[in-house]
Amino acid sequence: MVGGAGVQLRPMLPQPGRDGPGILFGPQAYVLNVFVERAWRRRGVAALLMDFVVAYTRERRIRVVTLHASDDGRPLYERLGFVPTNEMRLG
Ligand SMILES: CC(C)(COP(=O)(O)OP(=O)(O)OC[C@H]1O[C@@H](n2cnc3c(N)ncnc32)[C@H](O)[C@@H]1OP(=O)(O)O)[C@@H](O)C(=O)NCCC(=O)NCCS
Repeated sequence: MVGGAGVQLRPMLPQPGRDGPGILFGPQAYVLNVFVERAWRRRGVAALLMDFVVAYTRERRIRVVTLHASDDGRPLYERLGFVPTNEMRLG
């Protein structure tokens, strides 16, 4: 095994959609544990894994897909269409 990626499906209370009228229903997907062994990096392994993750969420019509990006991962996620949000955390 040279890499992996996980998706946690979380219940979500119904909430207003962001792209216009309508209500979003759960679950939401949280992407975590994206990792590729150092010797195998920069060969497209993470991109392949994330393509699979995105396809999985689209097949299930999951509208809210979030993650927390490391500096290494950010360019990959941005290429896939992930954008920064207004999330805050209690310090
Ligand atoms: C972030 C991480 C998962 C990326 O894995 P990866 O398999 O190297 O990712 P990819 O190969 O798909 O893409 C990484 C880069 O390699 C480039 N690349 C992809 N295929 C390539 C190839 N055949 N030849 C050269 N470069 C290539 C991509 O364009 C990308 O370039 P960029 O970062 O300058 O935009 C990996 O660096 C890692 O495990 N980091 C530590 C853990 C971590 O930060 N995980 C993310 C948590 S959010």
